[in-house]
Amino acid sequence: MHLFKSLSLATAAVCGLTVANAAEISSPNGEIIVNFSLESGVPTYHVDYKGKPIILPSTLGLELVGTTNLMDGFELIGENSSTQDETWEPVWGENSQIRNHYNEYLAHLKQPATERLMDIRFRVYDDGVGFRYEFPMQDKLVYFVVKEEHSQFAMPGDMTAWWIAGDYDTQEYAYTESRLSEIRGLMEKSIIDNLSQTTFSPTGVQTSLQLKTDDGIYLNLHEAALVDYSCMHLNLDDKNMVFESWLTPDAMGNKGHLQCPAKSPWRTMIISDDARDMLSSNLILNLNEPCAYEDTSWIKPVKYVGVWWEMIAGPSQWSYTWDYPSVKLDTIDYAQCKPHSRHGANNENVKKYIDFAAEHGFDQVLVEGWNIGWEDWSGNWKDYVFDFVTPYPDFDIDMLNKYANDRGVKIMMHHETSGSARNYERHMAVAYDLMDKYGYNAVKSGYVGNILPRGEHHYGQWMNNHYLYAVTEAAKHHIMVNGHEAVRPTGLCRTYPNLIGNESACGTEYESFGGNKPSHTTVLPFTRLQGGPMDYTPGIFVMDLNEFNPENHSHVNSTLARQLALYVTMYSPLQMAADTPEHYGRYMDAFQFIKDVPVDWSESHYLEAEPGRYITVARKDKNSDSWFVGNTSSEHGHKSNLTLSFLDPDRKYIATIYADAKDAHYKDNPQAYTITTKEVTSKSSLSLNAAPGGGYAISIVPKP
Ligand code: NOJ
Ligand code: CA
Repeated sequence: MHLFKSLSLATAAVCGLTVANAAEISSPNGEIIVNFSLESGVPTYHVDYKGKPIILPSTLGLELVGTTNLMDGFELIGENSSTQDETWEPVWGENSQIRNHYNEYLAHLKQPATERLMDIRFRVYDDGVGFRYEFPMQDKLVYFVVKEEHSQFAMPGDMTAWWIAGDYDTQEYAYTESRLSEIRGLMEKSIIDNLSQTTFSPTGVQTSLQLKTDDGIYLNLHEAALVDYSCMHLNLDDKNMVFESWLTPDAMGNKGHLQCPAKSPWRTMIISDDARDMLSSNLILNLNEPCAYEDTSWIKPVKYVGVWWEMIAGPSQWSYTWDYPSVKLDTIDYAQCKPHSRHGANNENVKKYIDFAAEHGFDQVLVEGWNIGWEDWSGNWKDYVFDFVTPYPDFDIDMLNKYANDRGVKIMMHHETSGSARNYERHMAVAYDLMDKYGYNAVKSGYVGNILPRGEHHYGQWMNNHYLYAVTEAAKHHIMVNGHEAVRPTGLCRTYPNLIGNESACGTEYESFGGNKPSHTTVLPFTRLQGGPMDYTPGIFVMDLNEFNPENHSHVNSTLARQLALYVTMYSPLQMAADTPEHYGRYMDAFQFIKDVPVDWSESHYLEAEPGRYITVARKDKNSDSWFVGNTSSEHGHKSNLTLSFLDPDRKYIATIYADAKDAHYKDNPQAYTITTKEVTSKSSLSLNAAPGGGYAISIVPKP
């Protein structure tokens, strides 16, 4: 199969080179073909999949502030092509080896009127396409300010989309499944229904965006390697069905400050006619740079419990004294205050979680509300609420860390910044030093509230640089980072594998704020998880939250068996058992699965998948020959007929199946489950039933 062909539609003789102004680049298996050309000086591309158009002719370019745009008037002055085929080993992941196989085409463009240079690089894989802009070192373009990036993705027609509204400051929305043509109407309705939504356009959506054409082709649009650039949204021209990039602005309304040499993140398109390929694609990781650290031996997947759900859903609180009266922090004399009876992070309660973690083999205990400042929730007004080093009087940091370490457990640090990135950067070095002193090696950080510096947004270039700074500074201390409310991941965990988690979507906490849709976890792996793992915090066993906290009237929209399955279907090297020791005590037989399930894998096989309906995946433990299977299903439930052909044909195994009972239902009978064991081989098949909002989890252990 040819790698790329220059099409001699027209040629230009520049610097003694004769080059065509159009090229065709094919994927290694020839099924995806990208055409790039200059149409009257405008960079233009289109993509075909198995002979049919999947991206119609779309233009590329950038609009600049105060100077000539980089959108038209280009000439092609050179081109390069190459092929890469290598296999690399992630520090942690769904697979222990990843093949990176693509054909690359690089167009060197020149704008003769300004004498500026811009390159566009395409990589074409069997599972999709990536392209990015590159701005080489040059005399006539040194610093520039981006007004807007205008990368188009022209759809072949109206189609189904799984989307959340564009927003510069939150990704914590429920997904809507609709036709593209319905987005405008639904968005208007949702703004009326939900005043917290601050979308910037009636057809603006976030990535990763999952799409499906009427003839069954799946297309996913996202970005890879978001570094020193603002995060991209997609704005739909719903007359012509053309998406266009829409970057997050800074406090002045500009969309990026670049200095040559510079490059944009990759714009990615995952393409297949099999939904399972969307989930097994490594396109986004492959488009990121290799690991930046020489020594990664300190980076370890983590299974943890925590003093957390009792604050989110239950009766406890983060603050030491009052609930949230927003008093002035410097007027509180903690030594004179008695701890509130609801303060969760107290010595006795933390010891209880440490004992539970030690007894059941968990690595860490997250403790939130351990440090002073929670009474003064004024992050939107001033930027010095938390110092990240001063414990409340009832949290004995020295004693508790010793108590944990003596039992083979670590405490997980929590840094809630209340959105004040400036304050966090000021305290970061001493905060990480404190972690070193007491033996913490992982931090959950959070960015609740408006960003300070004022006017910056959670997903702008300034904050994206901040998140990466926090990760690379942490690496110097051998600390792993799990950022909540941070920008959605774009595969940077390949380069910086101490970024072991992010939230960046509605996680389990939303089960306590009204409940996630039962289909939510059948969409997230197609969307949010494309860029990297999520700290989803599954494992809730008591669904009626009123039982936990009389003031909480929310219901967890999942069966118990499905909560187990999420440890397999929601891939992450960081997994929390989010419920309380007391709640687990009621269902110890089911809790066994959470104890057994690994957090690192050597192989993953997606067995069944359809966005918004169901996902079934089998994964092999990286440190043993055991396999684990998980299924998550929507409100429609699901029937699976699985063949266990992924097992070693020369071995026998014992399968333990944690399934929804016949009468289980996420709403009114979520705790009805069965646990059965049977001997299986690679020839066995299993017929399984997921209840509405249900699922199943299976451990498959080799017979000795
Ligand atoms: C929001 C986070 O998502 C949640 O996990 C955390 O407990 C609170 N912020 C407080 O930091
Ligand atoms: Ca959150």
